[in-house]
Amino acid sequence: MATMRSLLVFLAVAAAALVLPSSAQSCSSLTLSNSRNYLLCNSLSRLSSSLHWTYHASNGTVDIAYRATQSTPGWIAWGINPTTTRMVNTQALVAFVSSSSGSITAYPTSIDSYRPSMQSGNLSFAVSGVTATNSDGVMTIYATITLPNNSTQVNHVWQASTSFNDDVPGQHSPSGDNILSYGTLNLLSGESASSATNNVARRRNVHGVLNAVSWGLLMPLGVIIARYLRVFKSADPAWFYLHVGCQCTAYILGVAGWGTGLKLGSDSVGVKHTKHRSIGIALFCLATLQVFALFLRPNKDHKRRIFWNVYHHAVGYAVISLSIVNVFEGFKVLDRERSWRRAYIAVIATLAGVAAFLEVVTWVVVLRRRSCHSEKVLGGAVAANGHHGRQGA
Ligand SMILES: *[C@@H]1O[C@H](CO)[C@@H](O)[C@H](O)[C@H]1NC(C)=O
Ligand SMILES: *[C@@H]1O[C@H](CO)[C@@H](O)[C@H](O)[C@H]1NC(C)=O
Ligand SMILES: *[C@@H]1O[C@H](CO)[C@@H](O)[C@H](O)[C@H]1NC(C)=O
Ligand SMILES: *[C@@H]1O[C@H](CO)[C@@H](O)[C@H](O)[C@H]1NC(C)=O
Repeated sequence: MATMRSLLVFLAVAAAALVLPSSAQSCSSLTLSNSRNYLLCNSLSRLSSSLHWTYHASNGTVDIAYRATQSTPGWIAWGINPTTTRMVNTQALVAFVSSSSGSITAYPTSIDSYRPSMQSGNLSFAVSGVTATNSDGVMTIYATITLPNNSTQVNHVWQASTSFNDDVPGQHSPSGDNILSYGTLNLLSGESASSATNNVARRRNVHGVLNAVSWGLLMPLGVIIARYLRVFKSADPAWFYLHVGCQCTAYILGVAGWGTGLKLGSDSVGVKHTKHRSIGIALFCLATLQVFALFLRPNKDHKRRIFWNVYHHAVGYAVISLSIVNVFEGFKVLDRERSWRRAYIAVIATLAGVAAFLEVVTWVVVLRRRSCHSEKVLGGAVAANGHHGRQGA
């Protein structure tokens, strides 16, 4: 019993040792090129960077060094946002190698909008000794800041990019780590939190999984069911119910996923994934049309039924093509884009393989029927692709 308990304690301590101080260790072992020593440091979770600092309680100032890997040409920036957690209103320090002078330049700049000028300017608090170094693909910014209201709990934001406008830092990437590089930091304890970050990442993953499964997987599967099962006479009523069931499930999940996407979009002020969003809205409209058109379906023998069928197939194929395109658009926004992408490509390629195989089977069945029976049967089976089955009446 005691052995068991100590084993558990050991495992818990080992796990904590693995997880907790690793960031502190990895940043404290980094050398800074001004060979100054800072009391505390924090490895930042994004953009391979770290913050090193010493807080002076006597006068409410903090000496900071922000270190990040960056190529030349490229820029790095770090700042405190005294009012909110994100980009706008961040009081930042930026560093880059000036293409005109060829030397490293560093200055304070106030980020007043989502398209800031990034020109040198005054901050809302006092800052002094802004310098920077650049060596071996690492840039570091040094400065001394007078903390606003002597507040040691700060919201900080950091950034990196290789884009420039006329020798002034330009826009950073609107996705991936570049929009997750913010958090809160306690300058006294060194504790940092990026719970908002994790929360956004988790909501994105939920959105991604819901939509990839509904729009990207179930809907194509529903089309495969409709197209290939109906050839088999024994599957006649069954394929129709399977098809409707599959597409309705996909639609319900898809609308839920669409809702999470709208919420994510409205929460991410300033970062717009316009293409992904527009395709998403178009998809919702087309799929809703498709569901409601089910109730307007003319009787199987009605002479307008052929037009309904053409419409139903055109919209159906448009929806699944757009869905697959939009799933890939979504991967561009997600964190772990590559692994998601690979998994989805594997799934969709499998579906395509199954569809190709069934297409061949269908033609074999149809041609065999043609040779055995009259042409009427052929008309029934091949044209089945443009023509709903018996129970459709
Ligand atoms: C700043 O706050 C700390 C405690 O948070 C306090 O010890 C210190 O005296 C304050 N300094 C100034 C200049 O107000
Ligand atoms: C603040 O205090 C520290 C240590 O007490 C000192 O080294 C530093 O020069 C002071 N800074 C200012 C701006 O007074
Ligand atoms: C920055 O502040 C200084 C002194 O407070 C002032 O002289 C200067 O004009 C300010 N610069 C800008 C760009 O506002
Ligand atoms: C500083 O404190 C004052 C009064 O407590 C408050 O009105 C102000 O908003 C604070 N400023 C910041 C940047 O937190």
